[in-house]
Amino acid sequence: MIVDCGQYTADQMYFLLIQLVIPRPVAWVLSDNGNGTHNLAPFSFFNAITANPPILMISVGWKDDKLHKDTWVNIGERSHFVVHIPRGGQVHDVSNSSSVLPHGVSEIETFGIATESPEGWPLPRVTGAAVAFCCEKYAIYEIGRDPQGLILGKINRIWIDEEAVSRSNNRIVIDPAKIDPLARLGGNHYALLGEILTVKRPDKP
Ligand SMILES: Cc1cc2nc3c(=O)[nH]c(=O)nc-3n(C[C@H](O)[C@H](O)[C@H](O)COP(=O)(O)O)c2cc1C
Repeated sequence: MIVDCGQYTADQMYFLLIQLVIPRPVAWVLSDNGNGTHNLAPFSFFNAITANPPILMISVGWKDDKLHKDTWVNIGERSHFVVHIPRGGQVHDVSNSSSVLPHGVSEIETFGIATESPEGWPLPRVTGAAVAFCCEKYAIYEIGRDPQGLILGKINRIWIDEEAVSRSNNRIVIDPAKIDPLARLGGNHYALLGEILTVKRPDKP
């Protein structure tokens, strides 16, 4: 099948793309509502994009009522946010936290999701996720016709579950099975980490 993208609506393209670009990591993003509560929402248009400085990117859309999603508003106004890598076992909390609630109403309080305070950061992290990237807004770009908000976050601190960590030659080594990352597929489908393949890279000439 050849897909001529110009022949499809934005909705049709979105439906197709999220089934083809798989598996996607999930950024479970906690941001500051500015009223003493915290917003939590998942985003799978997500990746780390540079290491110097360390920057990650999430791509955030609009609510149906033509307002920016709360995550976009919060990061735009208050800068600090925390991106978690959720575990497979957190899939129902992840899905619940994607509910569209009025701005300022916390998914964390609404769905009883536990949080705790990481040392040296003004925002809490979600209990149980193995990784929490503590970020500050680096830039927000508006991309495309809708447009989508491409939010770049500079990672200042990373909390990692000690269980997943070892050290070798001055580097931090992570056991992916201990991270147990949740992956997003198309529709309402998710995946867990499957078999891990180890392949040696070709020698440099
Ligand atoms: C696993 C998962 C991944 C999602 N990925 C995205 C995404 O990349 N971009 C986006 O705009 N919405 C995405 N959504 C939808 C948002 O989570 C949803 O619109 C949420 O209500 C936004 O919350 P907020 O308004 O509190 O920021 C995703 C939903 C789920 C369940």
